[in-house]
Amino acid sequence: MAMGLTFINLDVGNLDKLPSHCSACVYWEHPVEFNKQLERSKAIELKAKWVHGHEGSTFGGLIALLDGASIGFCQFAGSPFFPNAVEYSCGPPSLDSLFVACLYVPEARGQGFGSQLISHVEAEAAAKGFKAVETFARRASENNPSGPIGFWAKAGYRILRERDGFALMRKELTKNPKYDWLNSFSTNAQDD
Ligand SMILES: CC(C)(COP(=O)(O)OP(=O)(O)OC[C@H]1O[C@@H](n2cnc3c(N)ncnc32)[C@H](O)[C@@H]1OP(=O)(O)O)[C@@H](O)C(=O)NCCC(=O)NCCS
Repeated sequence: MAMGLTFINLDVGNLDKLPSHCSACVYWEHPVEFNKQLERSKAIELKAKWVHGHEGSTFGGLIALLDGASIGFCQFAGSPFFPNAVEYSCGPPSLDSLFVACLYVPEARGQGFGSQLISHVEAEAAAKGFKAVETFARRASENNPSGPIGFWAKAGYRILRERDGFALMRKELTKNPKYDWLNSFSTNAQDD
């Protein structure tokens, strides 16, 4: 068994490592079915199908394990992958960003696990060529798919727009050398 804090990428074979609530949650992926309050087994099936169908896309999930036991989860993608993202009045998330839909540390809070999950996601976003990471955070409560504004502000995110108790928050990522040619191309194009 792996000791200490480790991270694994979500795939259809390790859905059982998700926090139990998350493995049956299709809030972001299938809002209509989510509102129908499907039977748990049907919701798990739908989630598995969705994860399987999006392997190799910008969709990803990161599971944090402490001594092999699951303690946290983060789910993300380019925002067009999540139909429910259009429902937030402070949106839409920017297309140059990786959108964090969910961040969840069910029990072991205040020990830095949420921050570490986010740092890993930021590194992955930069490696995939995204310019930023964005999320919808909540003003008055941490009971929100990705948690409260205070947490994200501590992690260096700034508010782009705030409406109806929710804020679209963004952090620019360090420039990815892989995409330098693209930046110089657009600078030259403007100079012409
Ligand atoms: C948001 C959340 C992930 C934070 O996880 P965590 O592991 O407790 O956070 P960390 O320990 O990494 O905290 C990092 C920093 O953010 C701050 N922070 C954490 N929670 C905060 C909160 N609720 N309000 C304000 N600041 C907060 C911490 O004080 C810490 O600051 P420091 O670096 O100065 O010490 C966690 O509270 C959570 O899971 N909330 C519920 C979210 C939810 O419901 N998700 C979906 C379910 S469907």
